[in-house]
Amino acid sequence: MNARAAAAALPDDPVVPSPTARLTGHGLGIDIGGTGIKAAVVDLATGELVTERIREKTPSPSTPEAVVDVVADICHRLEAMGALTPDLPGGAGFPAVIKAGRPMTASNVDEGWIGAPAQQLLSQRLGRPIEVLNDADAAGVAEISHGAGKGKAGTVLLLTIGTGIGSALFVDGLLVPNLELGHLEFHGKDAEHRLSGAARERRKLGWKRWGREFDAYLKAMERWFWPDLIILGGGVSKSLDKYEKYLSTRAPLVPAAMLNTAGIVGAAMAGANAARAARATTVPPATGSRSSRPSTARPPAAGRRSAGPRSAGSRSTGH
Ligand code: BGC
Repeated sequence: MNARAAAAALPDDPVVPSPTARLTGHGLGIDIGGTGIKAAVVDLATGELVTERIREKTPSPSTPEAVVDVVADICHRLEAMGALTPDLPGGAGFPAVIKAGRPMTASNVDEGWIGAPAQQLLSQRLGRPIEVLNDADAAGVAEISHGAGKGKAGTVLLLTIGTGIGSALFVDGLLVPNLELGHLEFHGKDAEHRLSGAARERRKLGWKRWGREFDAYLKAMERWFWPDLIILGGGVSKSLDKYEKYLSTRAPLVPAAMLNTAGIVGAAMAGANAARAARATTVPPATGSRSSRPSTARPPAAGRRSAGPRSAGSRSTGH
């Protein structure tokens, strides 16, 4: 295998559950955002939280060290409650493109995250395997399994409108990871810069003006992706009744069902799924060691392909 082929064989994309994955038990879900960091223990089969959701402000500057400290503090509090036991794997949604466990971008967090080994830093600090994936992808995984997209075939687009604009696209329940539709050019600027929840406040736009601009953005999404369903998440989705009348999409548009828990639930699902995939491919030690701790290493073929044939089961071993 030449170097290019070897690089192409590396599993780069986060390991997310396939549409048919049946996850059970509990998992730790962490949602790292530009404004807040939240975590809880999740019942993986139902998508419900089994602990309170602990939230802290994202530190400023949001350097890797500072953010990891806050995550660790929240997790210690969950451990102290007794629900976060040492055997539980976890997942963390992060507001960036994630490749091989490392952020590749940093629009709403400190630039020191770019290229940092986020997955490794969090796994080591929390003492458990943590799968890191894009925050909107995590929210999408939860909504497609337990929320507004449950059981929906076809093309489903989730947009989260908060500090930034996040996006997740599903085709028959299978995620196309790391889609960054918030950074498409819109009226000469980054769409997120004009239309995120934070931008609406910065630009002091009323719902009518914002709603009309957002409608034009949605129309562009429709011209390019022809979704069958659009799910709207993030803070702005709570006020849908105020601007719904300005939206005219062909596809039905519904608010996310899980609102402020979707990111946590999807991250926990991805974490449990990745840990299961890692366990399935862990070679038992030859002699001596009796450790049954799941490896944080990725299985060789579990996470690479984004939208390969479903029958190949390429993105998930979570069946
Ligand atoms: C980032 C995305 C993220 C979104 C929502 C954007 O600025 O580029 O990766 O999903 O914000 O947090």
